[in-house]
Amino acid sequence: MRKILIIGIGSGNPEHMTVQAINALNRADVLFIPTKGAKKTELAEVRRDICARYVTRKDSRTVEFAVPVRRTEGVSYDGSVDDWHAQIAAIYEGLLSKELGEEGIGAFLVWGDPMLYDSTIRIVERVKARGEVAFDYDVIPGITSLQALCASHRIPLNLVGKPVEITTGRRLHESFPEKSQTSVVMLDGEQAFQRVEDPEAEIYWGAYLGTPDEIVISGRLAEVKDRILETRAAARAKMGWIMDIYLLRKGADFDE
Ligand SMILES: C[S@@+](CC[C@H](N)C(=O)[O-])C[C@H]1O[C@@H](n2cnc3c(N)ncnc32)[C@H](O)[C@@H]1O
Repeated sequence: MRKILIIGIGSGNPEHMTVQAINALNRADVLFIPTKGAKKTELAEVRRDICARYVTRKDSRTVEFAVPVRRTEGVSYDGSVDDWHAQIAAIYEGLLSKELGEEGIGAFLVWGDPMLYDSTIRIVERVKARGEVAFDYDVIPGITSLQALCASHRIPLNLVGKPVEITTGRRLHESFPEKSQTSVVMLDGEQAFQRVEDPEAEIYWGAYLGTPDEIVISGRLAEVKDRILETRAAARAKMGWIMDIYLLRKGADFDE
């Protein structure tokens, strides 16, 4: 039966690759690499660099495939994501049946870790449920952007004995600071931190983590908010794209 390896490749630094991930890369006959459009060629570049550095077997192939753009007009958020996943599932199905032999091993190289704000596992399950191509799959964990953020700022993720929430910019208002003393925000296209008014809030922000363009800023939110907004806008204009993540915190270890 065909085998799929869903490999977490870390979030920008090729040295995030674990030994398990490198071994998995070398088990694969075909390496599937998503390309996400012209602006994010750097991301496809990191994947190519990883293959060039770590793939030692000579007989594997790389197959690049275009990821469709998610349609957002005239549909609900959930409907739009569902349609998008269905489109990608059809692409995966085609790749598996055309590019892999009956006993072939294919690898999907997933940014960060496949369990964190990534739908590869979900989509692969969807392909399996369609039942057109028989295969099994394994998941190999990777270093997430959240780990990279905490490492670059040299901070623990949680306050002692306290919970943490991971959320999106769109939903930050539901959590921090009322519900959660530590919120990590990903996928934030609106810089939701600028609407947090709490004078005690602190922010640890990072963009392009793990890459040579990494930028990190931290401090009391009220004091560094404008600097983050300006730095982010300038970096985005220069690079043509941005990926950033931040942790908001209120309180200290051992506070009740
Ligand atoms: C679709 S999610 C993928 C997350 C990924 N699976 C992970 O484990 O980090 C993309 C979001 O992750 C965050 N992200 C991923 N890589 C990043 C990086 N190198 N620097 C800053 N943020 C990053 C950003 O919030 C971005 O909007």
